[in-house]
Amino acid sequence: MERWSGRVALVTGASAGIGAAIVRELVKNGLIVVGLARRAELVEELSAQLKGAPGKLHAFKGDASKEEDILAAFDWIKKNLGRIDVLVNNAAILHMLSLMDENTSQWKQMFDLNVLGLSICTREALKLMKEKGVDDGHIIHINGVLGHTLGNLPGLIPYVTTKYAVTVLTEGLRRELVQLGSKIRGHGEELTY
Ligand SMILES: NC(=O)c1ccc[n+]([C@@H]2O[C@H](COP(=O)([O-])OP(=O)(O)OC[C@H]3O[C@@H](n4cnc5c(N)ncnc54)[C@H](OP(=O)(O)O)[C@@H]3O)[C@@H](O)[C@H]2O)c1
Repeated sequence: MERWSGRVALVTGASAGIGAAIVRELVKNGLIVVGLARRAELVEELSAQLKGAPGKLHAFKGDASKEEDILAAFDWIKKNLGRIDVLVNNAAILHMLSLMDENTSQWKQMFDLNVLGLSICTREALKLMKEKGVDDGHIIHINGVLGHTLGNLPGLIPYVTTKYAVTVLTEGLRRELVQLGSKIRGHGEELTY
């Protein structure tokens, strides 16, 4: 991890759960981390807890399902930190829905965050990496077993559909980077559900 000290990471969904845990590890290993979440005050608290660690955590308030918020985050990163080296696409939501439920807005929320938000963050990270000559960056999509198998719990099909999309986006990203001859790496991290 030493060569990553001082380098810049963006973690989406940094206010709780796995995103907050990832942030802790990155800051402990010396990275300068931007934690994006709607509840930025929780990221501020985490930042205070991490005072004295080798790295630093900046809180950025935003909704990772909204393109304008994502663009604002990247704009802030470019102006204040000058580059990006690592993107962790962690933010996602799960609504339990039957295919019979008339709840289109929850379908949209899941697709807007889990699929489109992740894709826009990826695009913007790659753009900034290219602009700043970062050729050893990492883009990590947090996925799960449900990105590869349907399981048999009721109400999960819409969420599972978004996670299958993440599997395709991970492999698609890897292929595009190989085609470009880029050393930037695209990864999928598989958690258990
Ligand atoms: N937990 C598991 O067992 C498990 C298993 C497999 C896969 N996963 C995957 O792991 C990732 C994290 O899961 P988790 O369990 O840690 O989730 P979580 O505890 O529910 O936390 C979700 C995080 O995402 C953020 N978030 C939600 N909507 C957002 C939005 N519109 N814009 C920005 N941030 C948003 C939340 O922050 P705010 O509410 O402050 O915005 C929060 O920080 C997800 O991709 C999930 O699919 C988790």
